[in-house]
Amino acid sequence: MTTPNFQTGEEFVDSYLISHYPTSLIDVRQFKGDRRLTLRPVMPQDNQLLADLINRLSERSRSRRFPNAQLPASADELASLACVDYRRHLALVVAVHESGRERLVAEARYLIDPDGQSAEFMLMVDDRWQRQGIATWALRALSNAAHAAGVSWLRCDVLADNEPMLALMRHAGFCCTVDRSDGDIVHAETRSRALIARASAPRAKPFASVLRWLECLLATDAPFSRSTTTTQR
Ligand SMILES: CC(C)(COP(=O)(O)OP(=O)(O)OC[C@H]1O[C@@H](n2cnc3c(N)ncnc32)[C@H](O)[C@@H]1OP(=O)(O)O)[C@@H](O)C(=O)NCCC(=O)NCCS
Repeated sequence: MTTPNFQTGEEFVDSYLISHYPTSLIDVRQFKGDRRLTLRPVMPQDNQLLADLINRLSERSRSRRFPNAQLPASADELASLACVDYRRHLALVVAVHESGRERLVAEARYLIDPDGQSAEFMLMVDDRWQRQGIATWALRALSNAAHAAGVSWLRCDVLADNEPMLALMRHAGFCCTVDRSDGDIVHAETRSRALIARASAPRAKPFASVLRWLECLLATDAPFSRSTTTTQR
């Protein structure tokens, strides 16, 4: 739910070295009939396209994605969204071509925690493109990348009134727990490998809900599940 910490000038220089650009994450799918969408890791030159996406979002969607931010975002803030190291900080964008130019319709990113075991992720989809399965697609791509990077747990702090995100989290099999000290925050979390397994087994299993309940019970052993601290908003 948080915006990544904005980088210093020195870190920018390092971020622009995109020799590690993970081309294996590029994927193409058709949505809305015949509209071809490309999911790809973000590039530094995407900052203006990201700004356009953020500006096109409805007020509600924007405040849910950037609850702490002062908008419009500054050039430095936009650059920090577009300049990632593809390791600790990964961002994926979903692009469509319209009238001969590229436009972004979604963004998904994670930041790996210092322990390397868990990562916090964030998502946004252009309001006009929601309910097409784009967030589900991006979330799967993120979880594949996180798993490959050795991340065991994916988590997201969601505002309790963010029905679409909570519905998505439940739909994707995340365990959702209301924060013990702040009822306005819901912690959504899952094992990255469980997300991948669910994605590759699309048909409902007879004991799926029981397994999910067991996973929620086991999640109490995860480091962030024990925390009852309030997320900064
Ligand atoms: C939350 C969000 C990312 C979902 O994106 P999306 O592309 O519409 O999600 P999907 O199409 O993949 O939805 C998958 C499932 O999630 C559930 N879902 C998603 N949006 C829903 C909504 N508005 N109402 C009810 N269920 C919803 C449904 O079960 C849906 O499956 P279905 O369409 O077959 O019924 C999008 O609404 C968004 O960008 N919101 C603003 C930003 C935000 O809140 N980000 C989260 C904090 S970082």
